Amino acid sequence: MAWRRLAAAAALLSLGLVAGPPASAQAGKAAARVSAASAAGTSAAAGAAVYAERFRTVCAACHGADGRSDMAGTPVLAGQHSLYAITQLFLFREGRRNNEAMVALAKQMKDADLRGFSDYIGTLPPVPAPAPAAPPDAARMSQGQALAREHKCVFCHGADLAGGQGVPRIGGQKEDYVLGTLQGFKSGTRPGYTRAMTEALSQVPEKDLPLLAYFVANSTGK
Ligand code: HEC
Ligand code: HEC
Repeated sequence: MAWRRLAAAAALLSLGLVAGPPASAQAGKAAARVSAASAAGTSAAAGAAVYAERFRTVCAACHGADGRSDMAGTPVLAGQHSLYAITQLFLFREGRRNNEAMVALAKQMKDADLRGFSDYIGTLPPVPAPAPAAPPDAARMSQGQALAREHKCVFCHGADLAGGQGVPRIGGQKEDYVLGTLQGFKSGTRPGYTRAMTEALSQVPEKDLPLLAYFVANSTGK
């Protein structure tokens, strides 16, 4: 069971808790609706419909109804894997991944809510990025691809960058968000669920992160 693996691995997380700043008004209101969802207490089948509805009323404001919004810094959830999603909700809830809104929301979630929301996210089909005004720069794309091969990004995330299970889909993820996460893993502000990314980035010079982010964000995959 994914959940059991998660609980076991949680015990291995050795970094201290990071307290989040007070929640914004928007996150606060959304948090109240999340706890209403957990109070509902439903069977698995009815639960799926409940979380689809909660996603629409709580999460879609930032992440978009289909899992892709154009709100800056907000990751695409469409096409993301449920096991990856649950680990991240867990990290937010424990204060081990820092974002004001997400920590405030996740702190209201019971285990069943983590599972319900992440199962729902796992059903969202990938949504391609809107067509850019100009095609991506071919030279930067091939330099980025060379870096992704050299640093084995494709080894874990797949040649199509679609990930799987606990490894996130990153192809087509938003460039500003990807760059921020890479910097966070490298600097230690996002410790990760495992040390996979910290180690993967240990040999990557800081100056190469923008090129990697550019390549990842502009890779449509298959
Ligand atoms: C106020 C805006 C906002 C709302 C509402 C919101 N999110 Fe988020 N979410 C974010 C932002 C911003 C991030 C990225 C945080 C960071 O930079 O680490 C995020 C990250 C995530 C991630 C991690 C994605 C990844 O690729 O690592 C998941 C999963 C997630 N949110 C699920 C949800 C769910 C489920 C809800 C509804 C219960 C929700 N979010 C509501 C803004 C929001
Ligand atoms: C050993 C396997 C492995 C390698 C190599 C690897 N990754 Fe990851 N990556 C992961 C895992 C696992 C996560 C989930 C992070 C966590 O919470 O622990 C992740 C997370 C990420 C994220 C965050 C996605 C999100 O939605 O927040 C990005 C971006 C990323 N990786 C890009 C890269 C890039 C670029 C490289 C090459 C420099 C790379 N990865 C190499 C396994 C790997």
